[in-house]
Amino acid sequence: MSERTLVLLKPDAVRRGLVGEILSRYERKGLSIVAMEMRTIDGAMADQHYAEHVDKPFYPPLREFVTSGPLVAAVLEGDDAIEVVRLLNGATDARKAAAGTIRGDLALSNRENLVHGSDSPEAAKREIALWFPNLH
Ligand code: PPS
Repeated sequence: MSERTLVLLKPDAVRRGLVGEILSRYERKGLSIVAMEMRTIDGAMADQHYAEHVDKPFYPPLREFVTSGPLVAAVLEGDDAIEVVRLLNGATDARKAAAGTIRGDLALSNRENLVHGSDSPEAAKREIALWFPNLH
């Protein structure tokens, strides 16, 4: 079933010059980019995006990190896009992510782990509306 998901190429991906490499992996898999924007977010936007994590102990450094420079937000579309993106991204802790995944091949941290992908259809709907309110 074709669906949409929200991905973030976090500030480490931009700083390290990996935007093209990462987008290319999604595109080569067969997913389509239906919206995309580079922007630097403030703390309030980070709090909205990570609403379910704001009270967790790891959140303050995560907030600091995602607001530390420009990131790329995109909506990807394709068959089972939510699960496919999470498989391509690899495990959250990049040290444990499988080789062949974006995090497994390119990162070594569970904070600076290059990418975010919506983790459920409900999250995708909420996150796409937050980042791209004019997308239909
Ligand atoms: S949870 O509690 O299991 O739902 O959390 P998890 O899915 O593992 O992680 C949610 C996001 O928090 C980030 N994270 C961290 N950031 C900074 N420091 C530490 N220690 C840390 N641990 C987890 C993790 O990268 C997830 O970010 P997203 O953007 O959702 O992938």
